[in-house]
Amino acid sequence: MTDSNSENKEQAADNYYDSFIDAQNVDWEEAIVNDPRSRDDLNFLSTINKIKTAYKENPVQELEDLKAQLPPLSGSSGDLGGSFPSVKGYEIEEEIGRGGFATIYRARDIKAGRKVALKILRNRHELTPAALARFLREAHALAALRHDNIVHIYHVIDEDEVLGLSMEFIDGDNLNDYLTDNGPMEARGVAQIGADLCRALTEVHKAGYIHRDIKTENVMRDRSGRIVLMDFGLTRSTNPDSRVTETGVLVGTPLTMAPEQYEFKDVDARTDVYALGCLLYRLSTGNHVVEGKSMEELRRKVLSGDIPPISDTQPGYPVSLTKIISKAMSVKPAKRYPSTREFEKALTSWIQAHDPSQAPKADGESSEASPSLSIVFILGGILIVLVAILIFLIYLATR
Ligand SMILES: Nc1ncnc2c1ncn2[C@@H]1O[C@H](COP(=O)(O)OP(=O)(O)O)[C@@H](O)[C@H]1O
Ligand SMILES: [Mg+2]
Repeated sequence: MTDSNSENKEQAADNYYDSFIDAQNVDWEEAIVNDPRSRDDLNFLSTINKIKTAYKENPVQELEDLKAQLPPLSGSSGDLGGSFPSVKGYEIEEEIGRGGFATIYRARDIKAGRKVALKILRNRHELTPAALARFLREAHALAALRHDNIVHIYHVIDEDEVLGLSMEFIDGDNLNDYLTDNGPMEARGVAQIGADLCRALTEVHKAGYIHRDIKTENVMRDRSGRIVLMDFGLTRSTNPDSRVTETGVLVGTPLTMAPEQYEFKDVDARTDVYALGCLLYRLSTGNHVVEGKSMEELRRKVLSGDIPPISDTQPGYPVSLTKIISKAMSVKPAKRYPSTREFEKALTSWIQAHDPSQAPKADGESSEASPSLSIVFILGGILIVLVAILIFLIYLATR
């Protein structure tokens, strides 16, 4: 039985929860002092509260930082505070990634004897409808897709404590980590990654899906340079019968969302064209297309197309590639490439026209050798002929 003092404290803890729900101000430090046994839950509520406030008025980056700080819910399954979940048939070796709903582990599939990546939903018994919808979308889309630039799925895991996916393990970095380690990429590398992702997306669109979350964190590059698209959790089917209703809900990642996503308008393949343009912009500059202190500011900038030119930070960047990327990022979908196939064509022509094994050329100029180089060749030729005639004359004179 509890004494009256601790009863008071429990009463106090209940009041904190009520205040939180009613969006009243709560002194969280005081709350933890009053109810230390609920420390984890109170910390959790406090972080959620900060996120709520950040969504209203604070920088988006701050929001992302806060999300990363979220402590695990006490009593949750699938994520055991630093230890790995146990998944029948797999030996988990290391945590390699963590998103909003899932944790990704490197593991060994014991029967198949191969390395895999396991994407396991946290808190299986407290699954929100959003997390379950994400999981089902990803499983369905990946099962329908097979392409060298799309991560391969092996199995859906659905056992007592665990709901997850087993996928091929990509030995490399996601492009966000690549940028952090190496800084902006040179133009040719950007165009090649763009062409690879266009091919992946053409496959996605052919299968009747829109990816809707193209960003550097969702693309990996393995050690051989293979580019792999992943994270199909926000994928939308283009078949109206199998669509999840999402009226009035922002779907995507604020820093990379297309104008039509901000306006709750219908999305199509051109939404992925826009996001891929943003990804190539980010690889070229290291910056996001828009920066903002609030969702409202981001929305305004995205809708006005107020994007600083790549040349602001990369003065020597080829103008012809800038034009291709800018077209993909047009505010009006009708002004973008109509498909990732067309976007790919523009990128591959650019790559061919800028093949370093051909004669060097200035950006935007014809592929002919430069005039000064031609003159050197002509003068050299004349000189060789003159020397040959001279040798012949000396030979005649000395006979
Ligand atoms: N198959 C994989 N092989 C290696 N690393 C992976 C794999 N899948 C995901 N990751 C790592 O985990 C991170 C998060 O994965 P992602 O599928 O985007 O999860 P979320 O849906 O939670 O965002 C990726 O950015 C990547 O670094
Ligand atoms: Mg992701």
